[in-house]
Amino acid sequence: TMNHFLDIHKTDPADLRSMIDNARTMKEARKGRLRGTVDDDTPLAGHMVALIFEKPSTRTRVSFDVGVRQMGGQTMVLSGTDMQLGHGETIADTARVLSRYVDLIMIRTFDESVLLEMAEYADVPVINGLTDRTHPCQIMADILTYEEHRGSIAGKKVVWSGDGNNVCASFLHAAAQFGFDLTFTGPSQLDPEDEFVGLARKAGSTVQIERDPAKAVEGADLVVTDTWVSMHDSQSTKERRHNMLRPYQVNEELMKHAKPDALFMHCLPAHREDEATSAVMDGPHSVIWDEAENRLHAQKAVMRWCLGV
Ligand code: CP
Ligand code: NVA
Repeated sequence: TMNHFLDIHKTDPADLRSMIDNARTMKEARKGRLRGTVDDDTPLAGHMVALIFEKPSTRTRVSFDVGVRQMGGQTMVLSGTDMQLGHGETIADTARVLSRYVDLIMIRTFDESVLLEMAEYADVPVINGLTDRTHPCQIMADILTYEEHRGSIAGKKVVWSGDGNNVCASFLHAAAQFGFDLTFTGPSQLDPEDEFVGLARKAGSTVQIERDPAKAVEGADLVVTDTWVSMHDSQSTKERRHNMLRPYQVNEELMKHAKPDALFMHCLPAHREDEATSAVMDGPHSVIWDEAENRLHAQKAVMRWCLGV
């Protein structure tokens, strides 16, 4: 069977753990080296990686591209609309054809069914670079970031404040696989999917839904938020979403309720002074730049796992 990286709950916990540990080892191995030098063992030499984007991206696009090159491989960045994929060719046929050229496919798309169909028909591994429903690569970077700063995330209290969106969903998957607890605080209209809450609870994680953000954040080891309007949300819902989400802004007042050494994360891009204030984003709890950097290291480990190299 193919090592697709489709979601955190679909990946074996021991494999997830080894990816985080390998990411850390590779990151440390590069320290003190010249920027742009190739990793010593060039595990991706001779490999071509297709990076398909049907939505905008800064971090995912650059970190995958750089990661492949650091490991000695090559990339091809494709936009959905430029490909026949955006003009009626089926996903299955696209997957069959791409598999004859490239060794690995990363795709960022809207409906999860596109990712799943790509994986079903591709003869090479497929990586989820974000769908409307989940964003697993982000959370691999977040786990790496947490553990670099604070040690094992097992048993810790993570608080998600805001929209129960795709990034929140992958945090719930990670709660199950890495054994931490998650409290969601946000308006009921934007609760995370019941299925994902159930999954984390079944795995033994405590998942709480708490409408009062100050109460939710009590005792938090990590506070996380994300944009109030995601790429898949219609701009016409912007005002309504802002009104619902305003009480869940992560600001210095809210952070006072967390543990004194709590970390703050945001996957970025951020809308400063909406979901989080600059005082928090640029303040002592924030690890947002390490988080962004760690996309690179975590995804290098994910790609090596996919390819078995
Ligand atoms: N966090 C994240 O995935 O950022 P991009 O949309 O810039 O890739
Ligand atoms: N929830 C955001 C994450 C962006 C990386 C979105 O889907 O737009």
